[in-house]
Amino acid sequence: MVELNQYYTSESTSFLLASMLDVENVHSCLELSAGKGALIDPIKALNDNIRFTTVDLDGNNTDKLIEKYPDDIHMCSDALDINLNLEANYFDLAVCNPPFTYIDLSDNYKSILGQDFNFIFNKSSKIRAEVLFIIRNLFFLKEGATLAVIVPDFIFSSYSLSKFREVLFSRFTLTKVIDCEYKSFKKTEAKTYVLFIKKIEPVSVDNSVPYFVFSSGNIKKDKILLSSTFIKKNKVDNIGYTIFRGINSSKECRLLGEPFHHNYAHVKDLSNVYYFSNSEKKTNFKYAFRGDILIHRVGRNIGRTVILDSEYVIISDCVIVLRFHNVELKKSFLDYWASKKNEWISNNQKGTCAKNISINSFKNLISSLR
Ligand SMILES: C[S@@+](CC[C@H](N)C(=O)[O-])C[C@H]1O[C@@H](n2cnc3c(N)ncnc32)[C@H](O)[C@@H]1O
Repeated sequence: MVELNQYYTSESTSFLLASMLDVENVHSCLELSAGKGALIDPIKALNDNIRFTTVDLDGNNTDKLIEKYPDDIHMCSDALDINLNLEANYFDLAVCNPPFTYIDLSDNYKSILGQDFNFIFNKSSKIRAEVLFIIRNLFFLKEGATLAVIVPDFIFSSYSLSKFREVLFSRFTLTKVIDCEYKSFKKTEAKTYVLFIKKIEPVSVDNSVPYFVFSSGNIKKDKILLSSTFIKKNKVDNIGYTIFRGINSSKECRLLGEPFHHNYAHVKDLSNVYYFSNSEKKTNFKYAFRGDILIHRVGRNIGRTVILDSEYVIISDCVIVLRFHNVELKKSFLDYWASKKNEWISNNQKGTCAKNISINSFKNLISSLR
């Protein structure tokens, strides 16, 4: 049932998550949005005395959990109901694979956000469910207890949630991160992370956090600076080049009746393209000029790159334009792009369904090439 955002946790991710938990002294574990309970077996395998309390909206899931784990508590309820019948500050551990989705920001959800987080979203009409699940889980945890939560990259690395992460990781301690490869979840393409958050104030936001990269069954250990998870990475300088994307859909471009560059399947990667345009430029369209590097931002051929060899052309919103003013920097970029493009795209494409690459990712790349 993909419609309910029921992207169940894969076995390998569940076992990896469990193996990184300290469950020796855990008696009670909360799992909100428990689904089919993929996280229960791996945790019980480590400590059979742990009693789970699961909550899920879907009665079929709850019924199956009651049948499979009759000694645990299973509630068919809305985990985000402010009146959910659970005790605050009670659980020794919480694990959660929340729905990856936006929901309308109701008054009920504003109460969940509470004083600490409300100001971040006071201009929003929608909110990510994962944000509410994280806050809700922490509310039910004992002081010092850990939440292990699976989140898509939007929650961990988007600019729009930078303030949320800043407040979250200043109030609670991010103790480690697992960076999971694509397809760690059945039926979703999302790149995901497991965040281990302890209900205790961090000693300092200048600390580094263990960062495990899980790929093809292997784990590589690294570390990141806690503060790097909320400093807006788009503050990198963009001296020496201009980058922007088109603003019109291909339909709007087509209606204009003039040539335009779009994420066409037929263009050859790293080739020159030529368009014959001789009409007046329109103010409400974006144009690329001779020498500009045009990159497919979305679609099946994401990352496909061409160089404009004619005077100018309109670009659609599926294309990013890179215009270098610094010749050396352009050369460095093209050298890098010719050899590492595919690897870079697979590490930097975002989005749960439609994959895309962001301008900020390019800014980060170019700043690393200086
Ligand atoms: C992404 S799945 C989680 C799967 C599960 N954690 C696992 O590992 O197998 C999301 C689950 O959340 C449930 N769900 C969605 N919104 C919910 C809510 N507000 N309260 C409780 N459960 C919810 C769905 O029914 C679904 O089973």
